[in-house]
Amino acid sequence: METLKQRVAEAAAEALGIALEEARSALEPPRDPRMGDLALPCFALAKRLGRNPAEIAAAAAARMRCAPPLASVRAAGPYLNFAFVPGAVADAVIGRVLAEGQAFGTSRAGAGQTVVIDFSSPNIAKPFGIHHLRSTVIGAAIGRILRARGHDVVGINHLGDWGTQFGQLIVAFRRWGDEERLAAGKIPYLLELYVRFNAEKKEQPALQDEARAAFRALELGDPQARALWRRFREVSEAEFRRIYDLLGVRFEHFTGESFYEEHMPAVVAELERQGLLVESEDATIVDLGADGLGVSIIKKADDSTLYMTRDLAAAIYRFETFRFSRALYVVGAAQTLHFKQMFRVLELLGRPFAKHMAHVPFGLLRFRDAKMSTREGRVIYLEEVLERAVELARSKIREKNPGLEDADRVARAVGIGAVVFNDLKNRRIKDVTFDWDEILAFEGDTGPYLQYAHARIASVFRKAARQPAALLGPFRFALLDSQVERDLTRAVSLYLEAVARAAAEHEPSIISQHLLDLAAVLNRFYIECRILGVDPDLSEARLALVRAAQITLRNGLALLGLEAPDEM
Ligand code: ARG
Repeated sequence: METLKQRVAEAAAEALGIALEEARSALEPPRDPRMGDLALPCFALAKRLGRNPAEIAAAAAARMRCAPPLASVRAAGPYLNFAFVPGAVADAVIGRVLAEGQAFGTSRAGAGQTVVIDFSSPNIAKPFGIHHLRSTVIGAAIGRILRARGHDVVGINHLGDWGTQFGQLIVAFRRWGDEERLAAGKIPYLLELYVRFNAEKKEQPALQDEARAAFRALELGDPQARALWRRFREVSEAEFRRIYDLLGVRFEHFTGESFYEEHMPAVVAELERQGLLVESEDATIVDLGADGLGVSIIKKADDSTLYMTRDLAAAIYRFETFRFSRALYVVGAAQTLHFKQMFRVLELLGRPFAKHMAHVPFGLLRFRDAKMSTREGRVIYLEEVLERAVELARSKIREKNPGLEDADRVARAVGIGAVVFNDLKNRRIKDVTFDWDEILAFEGDTGPYLQYAHARIASVFRKAARQPAALLGPFRFALLDSQVERDLTRAVSLYLEAVARAAAEHEPSIISQHLLDLAAVLNRFYIECRILGVDPDLSEARLALVRAAQITLRNGLALLGLEAPDEM
């Protein structure tokens, strides 16, 4: 496709009298595919010349000579539209996809650049929250997308494993807890202790002082307090790891907030030295009022540090360790102010890398089923949600394809995939509703629908008794001349742009939406075109086309974190 684009750019640059690079970068796929394969808007040029863009387009169209691979040049209002001879685009695209296979969609565009992604980051001793699911799924997808672009990606799980709440938990455990029940009850048991502490604190305010002292002891390295805290972390991490296994997510580092404990004094000292710290009523702060960002609390009266202090230490540590060209924080939109403050404080500290840090926010996840809502006082355990999704997928599959071998593995791929895709389908900043019927439907904008589109192509090959790898060509792609065949070829080719945009915008939904578009074109294709039992050359070219679509679907789903079974 790049060579085709180059040819058009050369011809257009000459006809319009502009630089080759200007023509190249202005060329884009027309929004309406019936307009051709590439379009060149003439607005910018018209503005520069003080002329009417439609006139410029018309004059250039009349001036240009068409030679293959170019079939036609037409002016449509302010646009110049180009169409290639039948088969030219398919020739350029499909052969490449078949040859590249799994590597189709990858590039070296980001080579030599390290991106650090802070994602998932749940709080220990608490259930893995539903908003942490979003962070996990979105962060992991962004990581895969950037890796596919050649970046070095460092995924960090910044576990919430430090802070005054662990003083509370230590006190609660000492008073009411026991190890046996912890071993059996795990996180729900810790949650129970935490809830009890907060209830009893209302009657006995002294508990709060005790908890504060316990956290101080923990910070100062008291061995008993440390041992208990380590136990809480262990129990929690074991549960979190099971969830990550189910989701197929991994991290390069599991460095929680506690890891930065020893790095904090240096940050606080530096803030002090630069005269940024102000003593306020009962805390030490950085005043960001001048930036309209309020105050950022660095230390409490009893000297204990905060989330912000740890984040500042972590940011500096990450830059010094990884020399990142970008650092991302995939965290809910509720923490927008926190990140603005943090980046600003780093700037005030004279750290230029602050400019290369970004908060990647996302909206809320809500359950449609009222019984699943936390407001009813019920805690949602993510592991249960994932297991239920697999269960529901299993019964659907049993009903649709009773003889399926490997049904367990497929049910897992479909169930988990349904939950994951639901989180990645729309722009991340939008809120997401979680509706069991909707996410698992085989029709509609769902993960299972895309997996089915992929499996259906595998079944075409089974029916034809052909191995996709034995599809060797040469192909007569000029036979793929109907609108829907051109549309399908174009959807495959535009996948590359979707990946590039998703990477630039940290927006996996660009890939999700592109795959949904591709699947919709595939459905039209099946209605209008037969693959088997037609002229052998045509059949072969169509097999190559759907195989390219299948590879695209599989690669795109993999970037999002979904498997693509061959049968379901
Ligand atoms: N543990 C935090 C929470 O649950 C999220 C941490 C995000 N990462 C960070 N570096 N602040 O709200």
